[in-house]
Amino acid sequence: ATTLLLWAVLGYLLGSIPFGVLVTRAMGLGDVRSIGSGNIGATNVLRTGSKGAALATLLLDGGKGALAVLLARAVAPEDAAQLAGAMAFLGHCFPVWLGFRGGKGVATALGLLLAVAWPVGLAACATWAATAALLRISSLSALVAAVLSPLWAVLLGRGEVVVLAIALAALILVRHRANIARLLAGTEPRIGRR
Ligand code: G3P
Repeated sequence: ATTLLLWAVLGYLLGSIPFGVLVTRAMGLGDVRSIGSGNIGATNVLRTGSKGAALATLLLDGGKGALAVLLARAVAPEDAAQLAGAMAFLGHCFPVWLGFRGGKGVATALGLLLAVAWPVGLAACATWAATAALLRISSLSALVAAVLSPLWAVLLGRGEVVVLAIALAALILVRHRANIARLLAGTEPRIGRR
């Protein structure tokens, strides 16, 4: 129990590092929270016009989810690894450093899924990329990838991550409330547009 608690806290702390804010600030691009959707994720960082900053944010936000899992797995049992990943996701969405107003968790979820069960993570990344290539809308791609990820887990024989994938999908849906409203209204911007 102490081990699990420790990895929950470490996972949360890793996930709570707001790379979108840090990267844009370090690159002199201003505060990402004052542009576009106001979100701290890579999609909104791209709206600063810097592809480099967006890519860095994507990799760092994804990387922290993966790192939480891999660190826990190196020294603790597998359930600690899943817990650390899930807590990194929650840390990203609700970071204490930003008054608990964080991101939507898409990059972090993809990163942690890749580390927990790479075939499922890869299928989720491919689903995101295929939807994005087709429709050019980041939020919709995230929603499709999130909702299909439990199905991928079942189809790929990784039943041990189904509950995790369902929980991540549910939270990603909730975090995209404003996006869903814009999608329904037909006002959600395409990738790279404000
Ligand atoms: O990962 C977040 C993405 O799905 C939507 O971002 O800035 O368009 O709300 P944004």
